[in-house]
Amino acid sequence: MKIISIVGARPNFIKIAPFIHEIEKYNAINTNKIEHLLVHTGQHYDDRMSKAFFNALNIPTADINLGIGSGSHAEQVGCTMIAFEKILLKEKTDWIVVVGDVNATLACSITAKKYHIKVCHIEAGLRSGDEKMPEEINRIVTDRLSDLLLVPDKLSGENLKKEGVHENRITFVGNIMIDTLEVNMARSAKLNIYNIINNNLLEKQAHHYKALEEYALITMHRPSNVDTKKILQPLIEFFSNEITKDIHLIWPIHPRTQNRLKEFGLWGNLLNNDKIILLHPIGYNEMIKLNMKARFILTDSGGLQEESCVLGTPCLTLRWNTERPITLLENGGTSILVGNNIDRIRKEYNYIKNVKICPERPELWDGNTAKRCVNAIVDYGK
Ligand code: UD1
Repeated sequence: MKIISIVGARPNFIKIAPFIHEIEKYNAINTNKIEHLLVHTGQHYDDRMSKAFFNALNIPTADINLGIGSGSHAEQVGCTMIAFEKILLKEKTDWIVVVGDVNATLACSITAKKYHIKVCHIEAGLRSGDEKMPEEINRIVTDRLSDLLLVPDKLSGENLKKEGVHENRITFVGNIMIDTLEVNMARSAKLNIYNIINNNLLEKQAHHYKALEEYALITMHRPSNVDTKKILQPLIEFFSNEITKDIHLIWPIHPRTQNRLKEFGLWGNLLNNDKIILLHPIGYNEMIKLNMKARFILTDSGGLQEESCVLGTPCLTLRWNTERPITLLENGGTSILVGNNIDRIRKEYNYIKNVKICPERPELWDGNTAKRCVNAIVDYGK
């Protein structure tokens, strides 16, 4: 059997690592080998957004890099489809495996399906209900086309059934991100927070942080939060003027967010604020370490919501909806949806700043998801 797996953007790398390692384990003990090719569409290309993750997570260099880079959604999806079609015509494959919800996921599923190649989607069935999110469109279309839908939780399976997907196409495998977390937790725990800060500091802010006792962690990159000044400015003012009265903030900044902050004239003040520690995008283990020791997190990232849930870090999710409701406080997780309205954020912030760490593991978030994914593909149609 031959499989081509696709990755394009940072969160994909974290999800594909355990899958590739599981194929290696499968091939070590089975005579019927799986031939595997890894295709990187090149959507994320900076070393800190891509290569650092391949190195840290021991992902083999991609067999093929499509070099797509940045662009509008239509450009990214269109260019990926054109380039990926050539690969499919050359490399006859039985399956393509896509993960998550980025533009690479969508583009490659459509391309493969038109050549009657089976599509397996890892992390299927997530729905935010918000079609203004590019990721929601990517999820809906990818799931509609996929032959095998591997879901991280039962709620996602229910979403698919409501959309009319037959249950024999759905397999509940658990959350593959947590496989990566399990493998890396001990290594991450040993990292030193000052080294993480000093090795990743943006511009010159270094020496203030020797006495950092506690901190909160922020990440933010969604277009809905960062692409308009009217929304971004009050958020920045709340972080800078209110939260920093209580605690230091560590903020590894996504390139999109950094670009917008500069464009909107908000960068200088942020850089001059002693209580805000601005970092380059940081590596996987570094992020896990910062998450483990943070008093709380503010984020619009889906992956961080999930990792915070398992690590127990209280989390304010800077979104109005989530495709990961299993991570919410009301469902036993650690996250509270606060959107980007300052009054709402302030209210929940006043609550969350005193909440204790409380780890929670949804069903099958046990570190063995990749094995169930490989088995589901091998057993497909049997
Ligand atoms: C993408 C995913 C999003 C995911 C996020 C994680 C889609 C639709 N979105 O969003 O789901 O949560 O990745 O990071 O696929 N840039 C660089 N260097 C890079 C990559 C990007 O400087 O290596 C800059 C470019 O200016 C680019 C901007 O970041 O225009 C945004 O990158 P893009 O790939 O368009 O989407 P993300 O916002 O990263």
